[in-house]
Amino acid sequence: MASYDDVMSLSVRRGFLWPAADLYGGFAGFYDYGHNGALLRRRWEDLWIETFLGLDENYYLIDSTTILPEAPLKASGHVDHFSDVLVTCTKCGESYRGDHLLESVTHEEHEGLSPEDIDAKVRELRIRCPRCKGELGPSRPFNMMFPLGVGPTGKDRAYLRPETAQGVYLNFKREFEALRRRLPLGLAIVGRAYRNEISPRQGTYRMREFLQAELQIFMDPETFADRVDFASVADVAVRVCWAAEKSKPEAHDLPAKALVERGLPSWYVYHLVQVQRFYLDRLQLPRERFRFAELDERERAFYNRVHFDIQVDQESLGGFKEVGGVHYRTDHDLSGHASMSRENLAVTVDGRKIVPHVLELSFGVDRNVWALLDLDFVKADRSVLRLPPRLAPVAVGVFPLVNKDGLPEKAESVHRELRARFAAFRDESGSIGKRYARMDEIGTPFCVTIDHPTLEGEGVTLRERDTQKQVRVREADVAATLDRLLRGEIRFDTIA
Ligand code: GAP
Repeated sequence: MASYDDVMSLSVRRGFLWPAADLYGGFAGFYDYGHNGALLRRRWEDLWIETFLGLDENYYLIDSTTILPEAPLKASGHVDHFSDVLVTCTKCGESYRGDHLLESVTHEEHEGLSPEDIDAKVRELRIRCPRCKGELGPSRPFNMMFPLGVGPTGKDRAYLRPETAQGVYLNFKREFEALRRRLPLGLAIVGRAYRNEISPRQGTYRMREFLQAELQIFMDPETFADRVDFASVADVAVRVCWAAEKSKPEAHDLPAKALVERGLPSWYVYHLVQVQRFYLDRLQLPRERFRFAELDERERAFYNRVHFDIQVDQESLGGFKEVGGVHYRTDHDLSGHASMSRENLAVTVDGRKIVPHVLELSFGVDRNVWALLDLDFVKADRSVLRLPPRLAPVAVGVFPLVNKDGLPEKAESVHRELRARFAAFRDESGSIGKRYARMDEIGTPFCVTIDHPTLEGEGVTLRERDTQKQVRVREADVAATLDRLLRGEIRFDTIA
């Protein structure tokens, strides 16, 4: 776990991420990724794609434009309902997001309140402008989409997409036809989304341009349960917090079947288990740092019937924070697009004509990258980023022990060979200790050191990041050994 300053300072120092346009003082809500951050993010995305598209043979990755015309966003409800409550100071003009303003005073969450509710609370708690102590004006809804005028006259109104999901819904019919008319059909987009957040803050937690990885599963709610193997997960303990216990959230470890007994569809719970496995097994998060949090009717997004947030406990952000969500969106989107476009989006499967329902697995990529930087960073006698090896930007560091006696040349040739198979980085600058320290801080799981015995045919030194243990490996075996270590086929302590 790491403080906010630790995550930011590591990120800037080691090329992960930093505020965009910082040459000009930064640009609130926008972040750039450096050479290690771009790789970490890409590896997270690859693992996400492998995990979630691997859930069914009929799940695919697609792509769509990030600018959408107004009509589909009117149909989806975003033009009319995608708003936060804005409170503006009558004296200095500073703007605040209503629920955040209340949160800063009460230290409780206030999601889902109307402008009238917020005004009533502001009066009750006698809240003044945090900046100038001026009187706060009446609240109003503020639509979070970025509007655009397309074309030379700008009269064709459009928006930057507020979620990747709509791009999928607009392409559903074509993909359904091309993929031989089968349900469930999963279509995912990993791409940018844009929201004009009132108060961007907390690093990559609330950005104005960010990345989402979203899988839309089109299904028939009557038969979807038969398509998932719920029996295989029925006894898996799922960590959930109930909406009714919001004031004192506590994660319960309940068997998946107990969630079904409480009324959740078995196919929904099956996917909660798959998401939890992604976090606990693949991203290797400690169990107690992970939970699902149920949202009640007032809190959940306007398009959802069932909504659990995926939350990860992060010291840098002050506790459990949302990194994704599991959303049962019903036929809200396809029916909306059908009536606005006058296209029939109903399909016939197994002799039944239905508008498919959607289960959406939605993740914020930047929030997940930040969560890894927080949870995996250990700052004690040395600084180490304990990333799962698969996610590390650099898989193996290669060093000559000293910069003489032919060792740099040998290191160069070993590096050349390893680089053809792994993300390998050669470093000759500074002491060997400093080189290990640099690799530890960016999460490199293994380092190979070339020393004098290497030149005598006595192999290289292989060092493991977490234990700092070293073993000697024959030069001819080093690539194969690394391959098996990185795949998790062998453990380091079994090599010697
Ligand atoms: N398609 C559903 C959807 O967009 P959402 O809860 O609004 O649902 C999904 O967003 C995820 O996108 C969130 O769980 C979060 O991880 C990420 N996200 C949303 N707004 C964000 C922002 N302003 N900055 C960074 N990530 C954001």
